Amino acid sequence: MQGVIEKRGAVAVVWFDNPPVNAISQAVRQGLIAAIDTVAADTDVKALVVACRGRTFMAGADITEFAGGPKPPSLGEVADVLSASEKPVIAALFGTVFGGGLEVALACNYRIALNTTKIGLPEVKLGIIPGAQGTQRLPRLAGVDFALKLSTTGTPVGAAEALEAGAIDRLVNDDIVSAAVQYADELVVDGAPLRRTHEMVVNADTYGPQYFAAYRESVKRKIRGMHAPERVIRAVEAAVNLPFQEGVEFEREMTRESVADPQAKALQHVFFAERLANKVPGLGKDTPLKSIKSVGILGAGTMGGGIAMNFLNANIPVTILEINQENLDKGIGIVRKNYEASAGKGRITYEQVEQRLSLLTGTNVYTDLAEADLVIEAVFENMDVKKEVFKKLSDTVRPDAILASNTSYLDVDEIAQVVDNPQRMLGMHFFSPANVMRLLEIIRAEKTSPETLATILKLGKNIGKVGAVSGVCYGFIGNRMLRGYAQEANMLVLEGASPQQVDAALYEFGMPMGVIAMADMAGLDIGTRMRESLDESQYDVRTSYVYDRLVGMGRHGQKTGGGVYDYVPGNRTPIPSPITEALIQEAAEKFDIPQRSITDEEIIERCFLSLFNIGCELLDEGIAYRASDIDTVYINGYGFPAWRGGPMYWAEQTMGLERALVRIREFAAIHGDKDWTPSPLLVRLVAEGGSLRDVVNPKPTDNGAG
Ligand code: NAI
Repeated sequence: MQGVIEKRGAVAVVWFDNPPVNAISQAVRQGLIAAIDTVAADTDVKALVVACRGRTFMAGADITEFAGGPKPPSLGEVADVLSASEKPVIAALFGTVFGGGLEVALACNYRIALNTTKIGLPEVKLGIIPGAQGTQRLPRLAGVDFALKLSTTGTPVGAAEALEAGAIDRLVNDDIVSAAVQYADELVVDGAPLRRTHEMVVNADTYGPQYFAAYRESVKRKIRGMHAPERVIRAVEAAVNLPFQEGVEFEREMTRESVADPQAKALQHVFFAERLANKVPGLGKDTPLKSIKSVGILGAGTMGGGIAMNFLNANIPVTILEINQENLDKGIGIVRKNYEASAGKGRITYEQVEQRLSLLTGTNVYTDLAEADLVIEAVFENMDVKKEVFKKLSDTVRPDAILASNTSYLDVDEIAQVVDNPQRMLGMHFFSPANVMRLLEIIRAEKTSPETLATILKLGKNIGKVGAVSGVCYGFIGNRMLRGYAQEANMLVLEGASPQQVDAALYEFGMPMGVIAMADMAGLDIGTRMRESLDESQYDVRTSYVYDRLVGMGRHGQKTGGGVYDYVPGNRTPIPSPITEALIQEAAEKFDIPQRSITDEEIIERCFLSLFNIGCELLDEGIAYRASDIDTVYINGYGFPAWRGGPMYWAEQTMGLERALVRIREFAAIHGDKDWTPSPLLVRLVAEGGSLRDVVNPKPTDNGAG
């Protein structure tokens, strides 16, 4: 039962217990209102503490209520009742006080918290805005800067920052409810005022139109394309300019608009897709898990160091192996520098830097990895090198230790051939920078056991990654799709669009940067080197021509001061290059490609329908379990705008499968079938009127591993 009241002297404590996160269900809302009524009627009680059992104070709305619409009383009504109380109401905060949970706290008179508490208004991440007076109460209580920061980014803040802003009144180290009761007693004895947040006012002179214009400018890039952050800014602006009740009305209007916005639907799809990606058909609660208490890493280059940081952050010791002391020192030095930079920005303390580094050991000998529970390989992308190191690993580590490769393209099944007990082998494909990017593409090889897969899925979650499983194919889900996408971008350039037009169109669509500028950032030499080991039939000689010529001239991208674009030293802004323009002309003539003017719409359709068509192939081949896994990969690993729902969702919901197929066939007629053969799955779905949502593969590959 929600809302059980316990009396501690003159203070009533109302308890909520709705595991796992005390979501604010109808019963919780009713319990809050009933508690206020009970306390009002009891003359012995002088104050009320709102308390929760379990691991957190109320962590938000009850998402299971989303489907049928919220049942009465609404949380806004609850906030009205709480804030009208004639006796002080104190919220006892701990854990993750998010969304509706924070709105409940804001409707109370005082807030006390454990110093590990995090508070946040994450609604914008689901395309909506706080809808229970949060946008009106928070600026009044903690200032406009703080309210905007919390509500437009959706990123939570720690208790110390919340205390400084005034969103929390007092912090304690432990025993939050006793501390809250004591605080309540003090407030009663002192005759403290009721401090109702809705009676506070914001200084409209300080926060005039100019302030908001400057704020919008400062977040323009970050919130590009998204509607919810602008709605939340307007609601906070209303808190400055309108009386409370009118502000609440305005917040309601903004809430209605955002709920009806297709972006909210797309973002909710993403929310559920990420959770679903962790649930793998065939794996259940009874799949045994191995415990990973120590990790070995091979290679301390770009990826190895970043991968190590994920584990150090989660308090898991890491031993990292390099070919020589120099590379080891260099790699560990970069890890230290990264941590120190975070400390410099106040994200972690210098104490934490040392604590994390104390968990990192460097070595040049394999025997130091003998006791690791998991070893992740991140050495050069070369099959012979990979086989050599896995053979050595297999001979050194415990027979039950899990072995993983971070390879981008290589065949994990082939690598697994050199390993004893290959059921413990899989791919763990991190994205650069590995300590920042959220995606972990988990490659299930032919013989990978359910236990290995389930262990790594769980571990991925523990280190804060979004996991998605792929079967084995060239480039797995992400990079195989990337190839088609980049191929179209490069073809469009040969057909007459400039690199800057292509990149600008992709950026406008919502990508963090254009794919051509991205190639300059990664280094054009990587592609050239890779093609050297391939047969000409395995890549397109037309689109690689310009890149290989540029590399031949020493133009390897940003790192050499020029690639497709020119760069001014110390500046990453791409500048169109006459050298590249001349090479594009040369290539177009050489391969007899007529130049024409190209619309941005064609750029978007060609690039993203290619991505989508390959996505359908991956589903049809059983490489991906579901379309939503592909969306998860593209959003978290490649920066596809989440508010568009991912490439598969975008094509189906925004364009429609039928129209997508028509366009793909039109492109095939013009550009040939090689890159534009429609996926048989897409053809089937259109013929049968089916949906991508209904396609679920039992396994990514028929691996017979059970
Ligand atoms: P890198 O060249 O920066 O680092 C590789 C490191 O491995 C070097 O420090 C090298 O000394 C070391 N190494 C080479 N052979 C070794 C051996 N036998 N034993 C121990 N250490 C050895 O390369 P990077 O970029 O870190 O790539 C590593 C792997 O990660 C590759 O398979 C790559 O395809 C993959 N990858 C790379 C991404 C990227 O953006 N750089 C993204 C995702 C995966």
